[in-house]
Amino acid sequence: MANLIVVGTQWGDEGKGKLIDLLAEFADLIVRFQGGANAGHTLKVGDAEELITHLIPSGIMHSGKRIAIGPGVVVDPETLVSEIEAVQKRGLLQDTSVLLLSNRAHVVMPYHRLLDAAREMAKGSKKIGTTLRGIGPCLEDKVSRTGVRMCDLIDPQVLEDKVLARLPEINALLKHYGRDPVEEKDLLPTLNQQAVKLAPFVSDVGEAVRQEMDRGKNILFEGAQGTLLDVDHGTYPFVTSSNTVASAACTAVGFGAPRIDSVVGVAKAYTTRVGEGPFPTELMDEKGVHLQEKGAEFGATTGRPRRCGWLDMVALRYTLAVNGCTSLCLTKLDVLAGTNPIKIAVGYKLSGKEIQSFPADIRAAAQVEPVYEEIEGWDEDISDLREKEALPVAAQRYISRIEMLLNLPVDIVSVGPGRRETIVIQNPFRRG
Ligand code: GDP
Ligand code: IMO
Ligand code: MG
Repeated sequence: MANLIVVGTQWGDEGKGKLIDLLAEFADLIVRFQGGANAGHTLKVGDAEELITHLIPSGIMHSGKRIAIGPGVVVDPETLVSEIEAVQKRGLLQDTSVLLLSNRAHVVMPYHRLLDAAREMAKGSKKIGTTLRGIGPCLEDKVSRTGVRMCDLIDPQVLEDKVLARLPEINALLKHYGRDPVEEKDLLPTLNQQAVKLAPFVSDVGEAVRQEMDRGKNILFEGAQGTLLDVDHGTYPFVTSSNTVASAACTAVGFGAPRIDSVVGVAKAYTTRVGEGPFPTELMDEKGVHLQEKGAEFGATTGRPRRCGWLDMVALRYTLAVNGCTSLCLTKLDVLAGTNPIKIAVGYKLSGKEIQSFPADIRAAAQVEPVYEEIEGWDEDISDLREKEALPVAAQRYISRIEMLLNLPVDIVSVGPGRRETIVIQNPFRRG
């Protein structure tokens, strides 16, 4: 038995979806534990079979495997209904009993999306660059105890009461931003139709997970976003509104921390960020454009170009420690072929003084100057290689240097978007 959490260690889009799809084979249940449709996880099995999931867990490609959307996920019913219909059209999820949707999960309402957009627009150049999926406003309602949960959505009377109670304040806010008010008659019929479609999936996911743990099953917890987007530990306020770190799986799903055996941190072999906010190792020159083009760095949810830069050991040492990672999965190593030399940030300088820790103050995070170490690159295409020893010596050295600087083993190296384009050095499910 092993319970394993997968988290992003940078600013999201590290390749978590690909890793979950790969590891799902060894799991009895795959549980998405936080975030919402702000996430975009890309799965690629064969040449043509690419699927981007926003809410459905990334174990979906394994037919018959049980997958769950946990209580900590914020669920946009419109997105989830269309995602379910889309995967069913592709022949997946034919047995609907394999998908569990938590009755405690909060619902992203249409007015949350309107507020997200109105606020971003009002901020102008100071915007966060959110995905406009209504995540912040939904989580605000959750914490202020005015939210709608899945168990409310599927009860028409409770839904109506909650919406009627919430609309006056929502409309006052929309008016503040110069937007039209929302009327309950425009919301309820559509929400009721979506509720009917989702009701068969709704159950107590926390209870199901705890029971499976008691039975000694292997459970894979799927993180979303990245640690530097965590509302407590990230580059606040340029973060998402939830806790994205590994320990959030315990609080969000509802089980004790000692149940966790391993935490795999996913890191790209370089760094990317979508949206605004500090990014110390960002490349503003043609090298950044090269990584963006070669790595196809365009957001899976919004299509926005991702900012690109070098790998950052100061940021990674911090995020691996915050998560308690037991090993690393290094993705997109193939993209670095032809880049010579490769740089790694091993420290920062702030006002001429060397610092080793990631700053809390975003003004400092925006001002730091990375101290780089240069590493020899390689030219060969590595996407067909399946063993670490077959990699060019320079690529092996790059991996070893990362392991040494982070004092953590790299269990998996990803050399392409496909499930097969992977070098498994150690299966993290068999580590514990
Ligand atoms: P996630 O949000 O962490 O699941 O990552 P995304 O799916 O948003 O972004 C990762 C992108 O990189 C996707 O387009 C993947 O198909 C792709 N990808 C994942 N691993 C690799 C890899 O090793 N090499 C290359 N070239 N692409 C990869
Ligand atoms: P996955 O799971 C990359 C970023 C947004 C923005 C900030 C706040 O695919 O790695 P939000 O809509 O959450 O209020 O936006 O967080 N962001 C992501 N960036 N990958 C993600 O998810 C993200 N989810 C949110 O771009 O900067
Ligand atoms: Mg993504």
